[in-house]
Amino acid sequence: MRFDILTIFPSSFDSYFSESIIKRAQKNKLIKICTHDIRKFSKDKHKKVDDIPFGGGAGMVMTPQPLYDAIKHVKKLNKGAVIFLSPSGEIFTQIKAERLAKKYEKTKNKGLILICGRYEGVDERVAGYVADEVISIGDYVLNGGEVAAMAVIESVSRMVPMFIAKKESAEKFDHPQYTRPETFVVGKKKLKVPKVLLSGDHKKIQEWRERHKTKVLKLTRLLT
Ligand code: 6GU
Repeated sequence: MRFDILTIFPSSFDSYFSESIIKRAQKNKLIKICTHDIRKFSKDKHKKVDDIPFGGGAGMVMTPQPLYDAIKHVKKLNKGAVIFLSPSGEIFTQIKAERLAKKYEKTKNKGLILICGRYEGVDERVAGYVADEVISIGDYVLNGGEVAAMAVIESVSRMVPMFIAKKESAEKFDHPQYTRPETFVVGKKKLKVPKVLLSGDHKKIQEWRERHKTKVLKLTRLLT
């Protein structure tokens, strides 16, 4: 599955995607992540990518030309859906990540094209026309879509077969976890691991985990 990111800050993705599991997944060709600098597509002599908003108001708006040409270029490389990242989009959830991953499973030059907006917005003639979906990662405002693109790529990648060694651990935050030591001393407090987890009784452990399921995935299950 491939991810193409359109951004004016391509290097902001470098360190994050060259660490840990996501690095290994790229090396093993399970996923491919390419960044594209929108500024390079600008036909303006100063490589400008923003301008003042018609109708007035504070801030700047991303101009349509560089973004439009960047999308046209990337569409030749990736036949997947175009996702525009914006705080006004539909809230991203675990269910949505699973659906996006399923849709593009086993497709070679297909995946997602992610557009990171910046400034106070993106000219509607591109934002509204070319995006198949508009996604927000939560009810708060970021400076741009870059962090949101990272979140979407990481959560969708986790659903790609083989990305995580054990399939079950794709949902490893489903219940509280403990590891050694059995007793962790904090000042005068001795914090112990729940006894049932040390019992070796798999049925009881399963029941305990079921009772202590974390909120996020409980909610996900209710919605599916
Ligand atoms: Cl996708 N973009 C921006 N700028 N802010 C956000 C967001 C996206 N999702 C939540 N806040």
